[in-house]
Amino acid sequence: MADFTHAFARRTRMRGGDGLTSILAGSPPGVLSMTGGFPNPATFPTDELDEIAARLLRDDAAVALQYTPCEGIASVREYLVDRQEQLQGRRPEPAELVVTSGGMECIALMCQTLIDPGDTVVVEAPSYLGALMAFGGAEADTVAIATDDEGLRVDALAERLADGLRPKFVYTIPEYQNPTGRTLPLERRHELVELCRRHRALIFEDVAYRELPFDGASLPSLWSLAPDIVVQAGTFSKSFFPGVRLGWATGPAEVIAELAAAKQITDQCAGGLGQRLVEEYGRAGGFERHLPAARALYASHWAALSAALGRHMPEGVGWTEPAGGFLTWVTLPEEVDTLAMRSAATAAGVAYVPGAPFHVGANGHNTLRLSFSHLTEVELETAVERLAAVVRAAPGRRGRG
Ligand SMILES: Cc1ncc(COP(=O)(O)O)c(C=O)c1O
Repeated sequence: MADFTHAFARRTRMRGGDGLTSILAGSPPGVLSMTGGFPNPATFPTDELDEIAARLLRDDAAVALQYTPCEGIASVREYLVDRQEQLQGRRPEPAELVVTSGGMECIALMCQTLIDPGDTVVVEAPSYLGALMAFGGAEADTVAIATDDEGLRVDALAERLADGLRPKFVYTIPEYQNPTGRTLPLERRHELVELCRRHRALIFEDVAYRELPFDGASLPSLWSLAPDIVVQAGTFSKSFFPGVRLGWATGPAEVIAELAAAKQITDQCAGGLGQRLVEEYGRAGGFERHLPAARALYASHWAALSAALGRHMPEGVGWTEPAGGFLTWVTLPEEVDTLAMRSAATAAGVAYVPGAPFHVGANGHNTLRLSFSHLTEVELETAVERLAAVVRAAPGRRGRG
């Protein structure tokens, strides 16, 4: 068989491990999986989608099934501008918003627009695997800044900037972060914005989970605080459904224009059908009707997982307390290696994502990410019971109870 590996571009070797691929691959039958950050299918509004899709095909095929302008269908853009104002208290100018094929495409467009090989990008330690792989693939020099229970340590970033670090942008996920589930408090948001303004650093804010607070309340987005220095990537993957592959980027007009230009040489436009589905669903009040139930579902799953962790995990194990989204981050004793522990966990019938791939460099060996979106409350209890038994038996912990 012909071997084409010699022809692969250099960037194919820069993306980093197989982390995301193995998460997306799923788990063997019988294994209770807490891996993928996928929304629960029970939150998909299938009846309404059925009705809207039929109507679009019947009455709007010339738009919904056609290529669309690169920056998005005009009525969809108008809807998204209104929605930003309604949800985030600030109205972008039309030139400050572009429709994207999801959040991940926005990350890819930012790479195309801003990163030359060797350029510095700042990320949180740990951060979203897809973004780390994209930055690696763009041959960025990715610099990780420490986080604590309140997210990005702005003081640590301030030190690095004072020492001369000049990032092309600072990538942050302020709400229910992937992978830690943590949220950046208001005071730090103001500090981050002021710091970056002083250093003329662009902030790249990823709001993938923002619309899933357990209690319905949100802090101001970074973009709403500083639209002059923040590009926001939004997605309908968690609040609507990932199959729609739809999101937005909003930020300074000159950056948005370049993102739209970059989109001309990727997919040229987000799918028209998905754009019109979001618009019709949104204008009919679908998000307001359905999101409360999704938030309540994830809140009750978290309550069950949190209680199970408290009941079953041995001493020396800690976890974050998300206020929304569907991820928590577990820290095991120093001597446990969660990558090595994965096969024992699979054999015991439970799956998680090891923490190391979410880090730049060799960190986080004793951490792991749990998603509580899919399993039922009863399954979460069983999954944690199994995981706790695996942790107790992990090499380095034997005999320690
Ligand atoms: C923080 C974060 N950003 C972006 C994405 C990608 O979103 P999309 O499905 O819209 O490409 C995800 C998906 O898991 C995510 O967790």
